Amino acid sequence: LSREKFPAGFVFGTAASAYQVEGMANKDGRGPSIWDFFVRLPGQIMGNATAAVTVDEYHRYKEDVNIMKKLNFDAYRFSISWSRIFPMGSGKVNWRGVAYYNRLIDYMVQQGITPYANLYHYDLPEALERRYNGLLSKKVVEDYADYADFCFKTFGDRVKNWFTFNEPRVVAALGYDNGFFAPGRCTNCPAGGNSATEPYIAAHNLILSHSAAVKRYRDKYQATQKGRIGILLDFVWYEPLTNSTADEAAAQRSRDFHLGWFLHPITYGEYPKSMREIVKERLPIFTPEEIKIVKGSADYVGINQYTSYYMYDPHLPLQIPFHYQTDWNAGFAFERNGVPIGPQAHSYWLYIVPWGMYKAVTYVKEKYQNPTIILSENGMDDPGNVTLPAGLHDTTRLNFYKSYISELKRAMDDGATVIGYFAWSLLDNFEWKLGYTSRFGIVYVDFKTLKRYPKMSAYWFRDVLQKKKN
Ligand code: GCO
Repeated sequence: LSREKFPAGFVFGTAASAYQVEGMANKDGRGPSIWDFFVRLPGQIMGNATAAVTVDEYHRYKEDVNIMKKLNFDAYRFSISWSRIFPMGSGKVNWRGVAYYNRLIDYMVQQGITPYANLYHYDLPEALERRYNGLLSKKVVEDYADYADFCFKTFGDRVKNWFTFNEPRVVAALGYDNGFFAPGRCTNCPAGGNSATEPYIAAHNLILSHSAAVKRYRDKYQATQKGRIGILLDFVWYEPLTNSTADEAAAQRSRDFHLGWFLHPITYGEYPKSMREIVKERLPIFTPEEIKIVKGSADYVGINQYTSYYMYDPHLPLQIPFHYQTDWNAGFAFERNGVPIGPQAHSYWLYIVPWGMYKAVTYVKEKYQNPTIILSENGMDDPGNVTLPAGLHDTTRLNFYKSYISELKRAMDDGATVIGYFAWSLLDNFEWKLGYTSRFGIVYVDFKTLKRYPKMSAYWFRDVLQKKKN
């Protein structure tokens, strides 16, 4: 692999999110987000970890940008913490938070690292959760659009690449169907909730918020700032376990319930047919006015691609209290005829399946009108010994990147319009439920000293991304 094999202008970067790397969670005027509350609930996070400090990028951003530059990356996909800008979700601005993002963006630009800014990575201001139940209320649409508008106005002279939301499916499913993630709501969850309706309501309000922000950008800023805006969607490749019609239908249903839930409305103005047929009156409907705003509301689509599963038709409805998962109604298999789909990373959900990258990207191209794609996340956390110095010899990760990026390139050669690739992540960081027990970085962080140590995979990127001198 080498940079030269990719089209001119193809962007290589790394991705991270505010809550996972910034630290200073309750300092310098930042208001709490729903995650600040969630991590304090007993038993939610491994080791009872919080992100109060994490890897302290708030203070070490120059060091981190310098590392990106040394490793020959072109871009950094970071996220802005809504409650650092608007501690109460709306109204009064926290100018110290604004100053932080100005420092970060200015330094990136000065060092030649292109900023890709994501406006939301799971971290809803807690104030809005309390004021009107956050994403369950349509009121969030206006507040989110105002926050996005403020960011376009304030940072848009330097930021030309925007994303509205990261993984709205995860937000809706884990936040409201099984309660794994903040705000931890579900049928039978201590926080309360209703898995039959809330995931669909939250998703609907996420789509409306996304498209309201895109409309603001297009109406007020795009002509002068000349940037682009899109959304970040996670996509697992779902391969039918057998070639039976029933398993093929289960796999297709899975793609619909996972990716189509969001990309179908954004491309075609309505939810996938399978979802409308199964979820029926529990699935909100877009009004004709809303369809006009939602349809076509992405200049590009970010796809986060890590893993693949075999899917089968379970015949009987699943017996679980999670309604979205029950509606989806497909069985997961991790091997076929005794052969595993791939080796496992540390995270239980992550099987290493490079060919799934090819299939996922090709599917997006074929099903959704060949959109401009940014492969916005890809990576793995290593199983096994992750202490120093053994944790630096990450040959499994190096081979992971080599094989997945080759498969991405193959999809491009076969016609997918992919304009960038972002590795998750530059640094080991706060991995949500797994706290600090999972390491996705190409750079190791000693969580005691916060010192950064590039792993072998980092040097591999440095060499692959080296620009040839003429
Ligand atoms: C996301 C992801 C990241 C994770 C990464 C590894 O939503 O973009 O959840 O925040 O850290 O996918 O699991």
